[in-house]
Amino acid sequence: MQISTKIKNIRTSGTVKMAQLARELKQEGKDIIELSEGEPDFNTPKFIIDAAFKAAHNGHTKYTDVRGTLALREAISKKFLQDNKIHYSSEEIIVGTGAKQIIFNALVSTLNSNDEVIIPSPYWVSYPDMVKIADGTPIIVSCSKEDHYKITPATLSKAINKRTRWLILNSPGNPTGAIYSSSDLLSLAETLRQHKNVSIICDDIYEVFTYENKSFANILEVAPDLKNRVLTVNGVSKSHAMTGWRIGYAGGPLDLIRAMTKLQGQSTTNPSSVGQAAALAALNGSKDIIKEWNIVYTKRKNLVQEKLSKINNLAFLNPEGAFYFFIDCTGLIGKSTFSGLKLKSDIDICMYLLEHAQIALVPGSEFGMPNFLRLCFAKSDKILVEACKRIEKSIYALNT
Ligand SMILES: Cc1ncc(COP(=O)(O)O)c(C=O)c1O
Repeated sequence: MQISTKIKNIRTSGTVKMAQLARELKQEGKDIIELSEGEPDFNTPKFIIDAAFKAAHNGHTKYTDVRGTLALREAISKKFLQDNKIHYSSEEIIVGTGAKQIIFNALVSTLNSNDEVIIPSPYWVSYPDMVKIADGTPIIVSCSKEDHYKITPATLSKAINKRTRWLILNSPGNPTGAIYSSSDLLSLAETLRQHKNVSIICDDIYEVFTYENKSFANILEVAPDLKNRVLTVNGVSKSHAMTGWRIGYAGGPLDLIRAMTKLQGQSTTNPSSVGQAAALAALNGSKDIIKEWNIVYTKRKNLVQEKLSKINNLAFLNPEGAFYFFIDCTGLIGKSTFSGLKLKSDIDICMYLLEHAQIALVPGSEFGMPNFLRLCFAKSDKILVEACKRIEKSIYALNT
C-alpha cells in the first residue's frame, strides 16, 4: 500500500512507543516498571462510572451534536467561568475525542502551507507532528534551564514573523512541570499584543495538579483583551483519571469553533456519547477527589525528588505541576555498561535502564531536548521507591 509522504514524514509518538515496548516486555514475563506513559494510576471515580452506566441504560447511545451535548458544553462553560474567570458561551465551546484531537483539529482548521507555529521546547511530543500533518511548519524555540524551560518575551519576539499563526503554551508543562505565573503571562501578553497575526493555544490539561504553592493561571485571566486570539484547551483525562474515555474540550472564538466543528463533522462526528455523560458527571461533581489526589501526587513528587537527588550524575528542577520529572542525564553520557556498550545518548540511557533496571522512561529527545529522561510519577509509593532503587543501582553499575 502506498503510504503518504505526510505520514512518512511524521514520527510515532515517543511516549506511545516506549509504553508499547514496555507492554511487550511485560507480556514476555519481564518485571517492567512503566513510568513512561503520562496517565494517572487512579481509577475513574465511581460516581463518574455510575453516571456513564446510567446514561447508556437511558439511551444516551446515539450520535450527539457534533460539538458535544448542550448539557456538557454548559457544564464546561460553568467550569471556565468558575475556575478560570473566562466567559465562554456554550456556542464558543467544542468537545472532542481528547484534548489531543482538539489541538489537532484547531491546527488543521487554521493552518495553510508555510504557516508557522511556535512551540517552546521541551514540548509535549505530539505538537510538532500535529503541525506538520496540518501542513504547517513547527518553529521550535529552545527554552533554557535558567528560564525554567519557559519561553520568554525576548525569545518569543525573535521567533515571530509574518507567517506565525500560533504559539502553543502548555502550563503546567509536560515534560518539565513548569508553570507560567501570572506575571510570566502578563509579559508574554505584552509581546503578543504587538503581533496580531499570532493566536495562542493554551493547553491547560494539567491545570489541577500544582505543587509548592504554585498556582495556575490562563493567559486570559491577565489579558482578557486577547480573547479572540486564544483557544483554551482542557479535558478530563488527567484531572479525573479518565484517559481512556477520550474526552477533551476547548473554548475559543466562534469562527474557530465553527471551523473545528466542520472538520469534526467530517471526521469523527461527535465524541463518544457515553464518554460525554461521564465527563458531565465529572465536571458537575465534587472536587474533593482532585484535592485528595493532589495531596497524593505532592507526596509522590517529594518522595521521588528525595530519592533522585541522591543519585550522582542526575540533575533536575523540581516540578511545579503535572506529574513528571524531567531529568538531565548529561552526566551519564560517555559511560559504559558492564558489557562494554558506551552510552552515547538519552536513547541509549533509556534502553539501558529498560534492559538493566527494567524501568521504562522516555528519552528527552522525544520532547525536543536530548540528554534528558522523563519519568512519570503517577504511580504508587511502593512502585516509585522500587523504581528509584533500580535506577540508582543501574547507574552505579556503569563504568566511567
Ligand atoms: C500536554 C498534553 N496535552 C494534551 C494531552 C492529551 O490529552 P487527552 O488525553 O485529553 O487527549 C496530553 C496527554 O498526555 C498532554 O500531556
